[in-house]
Amino acid sequence: SIVQKEQHKPREGFATSLGVITATLGSAVGLGNIWKFPYMTGENGGAAFILVYLLCVILVGLPVMISELIIGRTTQANAITAFKRLAPNRPWYLVGVSGTAASFLIMAFYTTVAGWVFSYIFKAASGVISTTDPEVTTQVFKTSMSAVWSPLLWQWFVLLFTGSIIMLGVTKGIERITKTLMPILFLLLLICVIRALTLPGASEGLKFLFRPDFSKITGATILTAMGLSFFKLSVGMGTMITYGSYFGFRENIPYTAVKVMLSDTLVSILAGMAIFPAVFAFGFKPDAGPSLLFITIPTVFASMPLGNIFMVLFFLLVSIAATGAMISLLEVPVAYFTEELKWSRLKATLVTIISIALVGTTATLSFSTLGDTKFFDKTFFDLYDFLTSNILLPVGGLLITYFIAWKWGLKNIAREASNNGSLSNQPVINIYFFIVRYLAPIAITLILLNGLGFIKI
Ligand code: PHE
Repeated sequence: SIVQKEQHKPREGFATSLGVITATLGSAVGLGNIWKFPYMTGENGGAAFILVYLLCVILVGLPVMISELIIGRTTQANAITAFKRLAPNRPWYLVGVSGTAASFLIMAFYTTVAGWVFSYIFKAASGVISTTDPEVTTQVFKTSMSAVWSPLLWQWFVLLFTGSIIMLGVTKGIERITKTLMPILFLLLLICVIRALTLPGASEGLKFLFRPDFSKITGATILTAMGLSFFKLSVGMGTMITYGSYFGFRENIPYTAVKVMLSDTLVSILAGMAIFPAVFAFGFKPDAGPSLLFITIPTVFASMPLGNIFMVLFFLLVSIAATGAMISLLEVPVAYFTEELKWSRLKATLVTIISIALVGTTATLSFSTLGDTKFFDKTFFDLYDFLTSNILLPVGGLLITYFIAWKWGLKNIAREASNNGSLSNQPVINIYFFIVRYLAPIAITLILLNGLGFIKI
């Protein structure tokens, strides 16, 4: 029968090692690097925040990433089914359910910002933001985000666009597209950094980026930094479980994760180097918040010959980065719907993007008609962002590390992380063991409780 045929068809996956890297790095690199990282660094005092962030990435984000990739590749399944296979008839699959829900909530606000970014490609091309006057760029941004229809239409366009890549499948969609896009992204980023660093007064921005002021660090800041590390590395919600399930059995999981983590961090630092010199050179405040990218970047380029072209390239770069991340977010529910409910990829994608459009509308309208609708003093947009980065992903990461280290066990991990002993990476695995058993779960718990105000360290 057809069903049987389906089951015998080999599962789709990433066909090449290069594809494994571009897809995984494509998921990690996104608005997190170019939008969140710079504005959070700006709001939280610069270099000191970056140091706390780096500690979280190494001690928490990276081990969770390795754990998820292992869970995915071992089970060859989506985030929910993966736990059902490793712990049958136990409630652990709820970690996958919550992760899948998190992917909807992240997409809800992520597509709002991605919509702004896509629309800025055209704003840059038309010349309306070609000015070094901060008043003008601020005004243009405020007007465009607080309109009703145009940001909504951009958001829906972004959903259709990423949905159409996902419909092409894992190899022909995700792998092929990220293989093309990631090199372009690096090239464009380097061009932008060189332009920013040659601005007069660039050194102030670099000082801000690299000279720590620890007086700005509080419990809430540390939670923000940890939340960012989860969001950045796309961990704590099942994206890496899903992508891990597409890894070939020859891939070296711990090294792949380290490579992705290092490259992703490099992209964030480079994004900071493209943005902060301009912030200081043109007299902006670094703590402008989420609008930072949209009001400062235009000024970087406006002052130079061919500035418009570079500005278009920059927003193209951000759109590319956001696309790689969004396809990985869409793949989480789509993998579940196709594997568990046996839906076609087309149906799974359509249902997913339509549901996201519905929830996402409330995020986009947070800047206009729904601006006064607040929960715990947060608009829908802020709520989805806070709830995912600062609660769902850390709790997910905590449960994932606890599960893999204490329930599934070190013997299984050692086998999977070394590809049945064929890789000589035991020293790396030993460090990972220690972190995933003790350090990561304890650190996540303490930072969560402290950041939310339940305990005071
Ligand atoms: N890592 C992506 C970014 O930095 C966002 C993301 C989060 C993607 C969670 C997938 C899963 O923009």
